[in-house]
Amino acid sequence: MTWQEFLVEGLTSHTEVRAVASSSQELAELITDLASLGDANAVIELGPGTGVFTEKIVEKTRVGSTFLAFEVNARFVAATRRRCPRCTVLQDSAVHARKHLDALGLQHCDSVVSGLPWASFSDNEQDDLLDAVFDALRPGGTFVAFAYVPGLLLQRGRDFRRKLHARFSDVEQSHVVWRNMPPAFVYRAVR
Ligand SMILES: C[S@@+](CC[C@H](N)C(=O)[O-])C[C@H]1O[C@@H](n2cnc3c(N)ncnc32)[C@H](O)[C@@H]1O
Repeated sequence: MTWQEFLVEGLTSHTEVRAVASSSQELAELITDLASLGDANAVIELGPGTGVFTEKIVEKTRVGSTFLAFEVNARFVAATRRRCPRCTVLQDSAVHARKHLDALGLQHCDSVVSGLPWASFSDNEQDDLLDAVFDALRPGGTFVAFAYVPGLLLQRGRDFRRKLHARFSDVEQSHVVWRNMPPAFVYRAVR
C-alpha cells in the first residue's frame, strides 16, 4: 500500500485509523528495539496498519515463535498479510486478544506492540483495550506503545499515560522521533 493510499484510508476511515501517514522506519526500529522480542515465544501486535512495525517484528523474533496481529480495517489486514506472510493477521479488535490466545492454547504472550491511536479512543475504549493488553501479557512481559507528541496536549493522551502508570510497573518514555509525521515517542511498560 502506498502512502497516498494510506492517506485516503486515514481520511475516509478516520474513526478507526486516526492517522494520516504510516509510521517512519525510525519509529518502527525504536519501538521494536524496546519490545524485548529476541527471547519472546509469543508476540501480539495491535493495529498494524500497513505493516511497518510488523515487518520489523518479524525480523527481530525467532522463527517458530507465535506472532498474531489484530487489525480492524479490512484493507490494512490485506496489506499486512501481503507484506508479512509469517505474521497471522486477524481481522478483529484487539479487545478480543484473549479469545485468540485461548484458541491457540496459549495462556499469555511475552510482548505486546501497540500501533493503536490511544489519544483518540474514548475513556471506555482505552480501559477495555488496556485490560485486554494486561490480560494477554504474562507477568514480567513487555508492553510498548507509540504516542504522537501533539497527543499530549489532549486530555485523552494524558489519560492514557496516567492509566499506564496505574496498571503497569517500570513505565518509561523514549526520546522523540522528530522524523515521524507527527513526531512521536514510545512508552515501554512491564506487566
Ligand atoms: C495510527 S494507525 C497506525 C498504523 C501502524 N501501526 C503505523 O504505525 O503506521 C492505527 C491502526 O490501528 C487500527 N485500529 C484501531 N482500532 C483498533 C482496534 N480496536 N483493534 C485493532 N486495530 C485497531 C486502525 O485500523 C489503524 O490501522
